[in-house]
Amino acid sequence: RTVYVNGEYLPETEAKVSIFDRAFLMADGVYEVTSVLGGKLIDFDGHANRLDRSLGELEMKAPLTKDELLEIHRELVRENEIEDGLVYLQITRGAPGDRDFAYPDPDTPPTVVLFTQSKPGLADSAQSKEGIKVISIEDQRWGRRDIKTVQLLFPSMGKMMAKKAGADDAWMVEDGAVTEGTSNNAYIIKGDTIITRHLSNDILHGITRAAVLRFAREAQMKVEERPFTIEEAQAADEAFVTSASAFVMPVVEIDGAAIGDGTPGARTARLREIYLDESR
Ligand code: PDD
Repeated sequence: RTVYVNGEYLPETEAKVSIFDRAFLMADGVYEVTSVLGGKLIDFDGHANRLDRSLGELEMKAPLTKDELLEIHRELVRENEIEDGLVYLQITRGAPGDRDFAYPDPDTPPTVVLFTQSKPGLADSAQSKEGIKVISIEDQRWGRRDIKTVQLLFPSMGKMMAKKAGADDAWMVEDGAVTEGTSNNAYIIKGDTIITRHLSNDILHGITRAAVLRFAREAQMKVEERPFTIEEAQAADEAFVTSASAFVMPVVEIDGAAIGDGTPGARTARLREIYLDESR
């Protein structure tokens, strides 16, 4: 596979970054994941805009313009013949040469890495037809979840807790209310109303979330952006998650309790269909 590192396209085995890289030592970096369907990038603009925001919040300069980033995404998709899959992009504060808590000189060149992952049939996975099971866990992440940093250890732990419990993913709970999934935004549907936590520093502002809520409103569904509890979710008619890699994914079980009749809900299926139709 061909990857991109700091201005160069290289075979993955030749790509190298410094052991002093701030992301390696301190998780000091941000990332984006953009999906590819039929060779087309999905929601690239949204991801590029959020990247700018993440960089700004961490006082990092954008090393490349949006157009340059788009060209690199496209080149990697072409070069690696990605039909369905994703493009991963990471920008770190670079490798100043010593380990120091203070940020290095702002002119330290950032490390820019992009690679692709091929996922044939990404939009038709078995999971998307059967739905996923989630468990709830206490949200033990830091307080700036709106910044898409590579500091992903707690979400990884949550995913492993879910697997050990025989589930697929975990919904994280803070002060009694669901924040989000380990790598996705969380929703429930009660009657005709979609309920999902409001935007704040407590959750990532999902690009898929923005699109799905827009399509839902256009389809005359009601949307309530507010916190909800696990008990409310277990009593809901439907539940789902959204992300760039899962699109709209039905949730059929929460902490062992079936949601609705335990199969993916009709409104969730409709939202998935609309999202996929409108985005590709
Ligand atoms: N994760 N919440 C969290 C904590 C996430 O990590 C993600 C995305 C989302 C959904 O955001 P979006 O719709 O913009 O993908 C919500 C990506 C896919 C990942 O880490 O692989």
